[in-house]
Amino acid sequence: MVEIEVVDKTDNTIRLFIRGVDVSFVNTLRRLILTEIPSMAVDDVVILENSSVLNDEILVHRLGLTPLTTDLDSYNLPEECPCQSEFGCNLCRVALALNVEAVEGTRTVYSGDLVSENPDVKPVSDRICIVKLVQDQKVKLEAYARLGKGKVHAKWQPVSMCAYKFFPQIKIDGKLCDACEDCVKVCPKAVFVKVGDKIEVRNVTDCTLCEDCMDACAKDPSAVELTWDKNAFIFDIESTGALPVERLVRESLNILDKKLKSFLKNLKKVK
Ligand code: F3S
Repeated sequence: MVEIEVVDKTDNTIRLFIRGVDVSFVNTLRRLILTEIPSMAVDDVVILENSSVLNDEILVHRLGLTPLTTDLDSYNLPEECPCQSEFGCNLCRVALALNVEAVEGTRTVYSGDLVSENPDVKPVSDRICIVKLVQDQKVKLEAYARLGKGKVHAKWQPVSMCAYKFFPQIKIDGKLCDACEDCVKVCPKAVFVKVGDKIEVRNVTDCTLCEDCMDACAKDPSAVELTWDKNAFIFDIESTGALPVERLVRESLNILDKKLKSFLKNLKKVK
């Protein structure tokens, strides 16, 4: 049976222990999160004035890569929107305006200067630097954000990190180990500690499976035995802030469910 346990969670990160599945399942989840969950990103920009040192293309690129909070329930993907308009409508597009002039001395334009027509769709942080202006330079533009998927462009990826590793299993052979501490010194993750005249394993989930501890042990065979459980994984997700991390996990499972149902339906047709 599949077991998913939340072991650590912050506003934008989550660590899960997933047991009872194989690597293809967790890799599918990872790929769905990276490529299939829609998020909002600036997709069209109308430049009205740009006297900054950045040319229009670079300015637009910076806006595209500024993560936006996403209201997944209120907007349609452009290809699924009834409007089918190239320019979009209120159901598939959010307008953001930027109008900044350096009136006195140098002025930095931040993501917080973008004014969104929908307060639920705005930059995840107000402090992302977009461009610096010197006196009398000005940027005035209208940006249009749409839902999109990471498989089309990385700007629509809702995560800055999504990775898994096998669950490490480390044993110290007490008969071979003379507590020389070579493994303690070499481990970059401080997985081992010396307690009295013994080496103990403490933070096993921090282990990166690099095998340096086994190599560092002078005993033959090594007193450190490192293996991993092929059906248990440590899965880490870091959201860009576009969507809450729990929503990312739920959406990925929903998408997987839909894809499997569609696969079965098409299979029946072929039969
Ligand atoms: Fe540490 Fe690498 Fe061993 S992270 S526990 S030295 S496998």
